[in-house]
Amino acid sequence: MNSTAVTDLNSDDQVAQWRADFPILKTQVNGHPLVYLDNGATTQKPQVVIDAVSHYYENTNSNIHRGVHQLSELATAAYENGREQVRRFIGAASVKEVVFTRGTTESINLVANSWGMANLKAGDEVLVTEMEHHSNIVPWQMVTERTGALLKVVPINDAGEISLDDVRGLINDRTRMVAISQLSNALGTINPVKEVIEMAHQAGAIVLVDGAQAIAHIPVDMADLNCDFYAFSGHKIFGPTGTGVLYGKEALLEAMPPWQGGGDMIRIVRFEKSTWNDLPYKFEAGTPNIAGGIGLGVALDYVSDVGLEKIAAHETELLNYASRKLQELPGLKLIGTAKNRASIASFVLDQLHAHDLGTILDSEGIAIRAGHHCAMPVMQHYGVAATARASFAFYNTFSEVDRLMDGLNKAVEMFG
Ligand code: ALA
Repeated sequence: MNSTAVTDLNSDDQVAQWRADFPILKTQVNGHPLVYLDNGATTQKPQVVIDAVSHYYENTNSNIHRGVHQLSELATAAYENGREQVRRFIGAASVKEVVFTRGTTESINLVANSWGMANLKAGDEVLVTEMEHHSNIVPWQMVTERTGALLKVVPINDAGEISLDDVRGLINDRTRMVAISQLSNALGTINPVKEVIEMAHQAGAIVLVDGAQAIAHIPVDMADLNCDFYAFSGHKIFGPTGTGVLYGKEALLEAMPPWQGGGDMIRIVRFEKSTWNDLPYKFEAGTPNIAGGIGLGVALDYVSDVGLEKIAAHETELLNYASRKLQELPGLKLIGTAKNRASIASFVLDQLHAHDLGTILDSEGIAIRAGHHCAMPVMQHYGVAATARASFAFYNTFSEVDRLMDGLNKAVEMFG
């Protein structure tokens, strides 16, 4: 695609070229050049994605799958091309395994409602971890309550890691589903999902991986990972908001009943009984986010062009640098110090509430996130109401980390 060709450049030049692809990074906030460190919440969009979405609305806007006219055919082809780009990016065997959703939350709710209601019964167990985002807890709570199944939780240690011994001890012949994040949005922990998947499969359970945070930072390949379901959001990987993917193994998706009913998901509708469309359309009721699906495909091609290995290498250096600097600040405690970590530095300061910190940093043009990060059980584990979180993308720089540190020092001077 059109991403900047980067070869043999030193790191600063390389990042400068990447940054040039993202128009918003030139923005001033409160009189300062923007330092965007809230990538865990949503990522910025490269020009190629913005152009793809605009191009669709300017040239081919039309509804898909149903029209016989040219615009509809063009729109359908572009949308289905987006699905193929997703398939390629995650290494799915077929586009039948790629269901478009509104995002990770909807993907997980789809599995909990469709697979969960059809397969869980009293006495069955669903296993999650203590570090899950609410979207990988609450749908399972809702479906276990309705079916009489039991929700069990793998604990975390104070570094924010799970132990494979704990997972082994909690999986048994009643375990039907293990739902686990690949990269924690609150702690930055990278979970050993491959080992967990193997353990679960040995016990006859299936696994849903929440890839919302991981997708923009860790290369994934469905064939290699061998998970049963993988959920992610487009907006966290430089694509449009309101887009997402549920990957599911074809045989599982085939056996699952539809979740939402409506147009496009049916084959024949009769008042006596309706029948369902083929995969993946069986799970895609109603007019989808067409521009979004097109933009998501372009975003994934863009990321492939930059290279996730290169992205991960730069972000690891940034995170190590930031963690070292942060720990030098008196009164600062990192929340989440797992050995295997990516892209996220969560912390609390003795002297200052995370929200006040976020406001002071904003006045310096620095965007971080403050709050429970939709992971209240993690906050409970550490006995804090909220953390401040700086989350990095490949377009962030070492001098932006220095700006963060200057802002933090200023905040401590003001309130310390
Ligand atoms: N789940 C998103 C975050 O971690 C919103 O900030």
